[in-house]
Amino acid sequence: MVVREKMLECTMCCMLFPRSSRPICSRNWRSQNMRNCPAMCMAQVGASEVLVERMKTLFGSTGARFCVKGMIAQMAALRAAVERQGNNLVAIHRMTHFDLDEMEAVEILHPIQFRRLGNVYQPFTVKDLENMGEIPGVVSVELPIRRAGYKLTPFEELEKISAWCRDHEVHFHIDGARVFGVAEAMAKAFPKLWHCATVFIAAFIKNSPILADVVCWPTKRF
Ligand SMILES: Cc1ncc(COP(=O)(O)O)c(C=O)c1O
Repeated sequence: MVVREKMLECTMCCMLFPRSSRPICSRNWRSQNMRNCPAMCMAQVGASEVLVERMKTLFGSTGARFCVKGMIAQMAALRAAVERQGNNLVAIHRMTHFDLDEMEAVEILHPIQFRRLGNVYQPFTVKDLENMGEIPGVVSVELPIRRAGYKLTPFEELEKISAWCRDHEVHFHIDGARVFGVAEAMAKAFPKLWHCATVFIAAFIKNSPILADVVCWPTKRF
């Protein structure tokens, strides 16, 4: 339960937000800041705006938006993308968390149709997109694919998928729920990694004590 008096202090979780991924991934940083963090409620004291501005700087994004829940962020971003594209086909990996673990809720709640690519063990590639036989409005990549043993699409493949999407005017959505670990694993600076996407979602609950997600659009394409 949120303690009301403590809400006023909670901007500090954002003030403590570091400027690179390494400290967030370190156990020490997390435990120290968890201890200092008085409350998890952010929106009412301006902490969400601080977080959004920090994200824009960190990822070199033109825009970013705070969302309190990952699934809401994913669905809102996908819905906006298919409507904008005028094409409701969304290519995803068949083990995608927001489909598999959410019991197909996205397709039930929205006028969205998934095309499920790849196999249970490996991320899909540009070849799979080419073999679809139709052009989707949106391609979504989960980094890493939680249900496929946390397999990560290699950076070179990500660049190819990004180029394919640009060539075919397809919106490229990245579910970066584990965004900070991914940047570490790929040894890439945030802007280089995320500029592949039209939009990406960064979740904080997985890598830091902040309870929220931020939707970012690295370029003006969204
Ligand atoms: C890969 C991935 N995407 C999206 C989500 C959804 O985030 P939330 O739990 O905040 O709704 C999760 C949650 O665990 C996840 O693992």
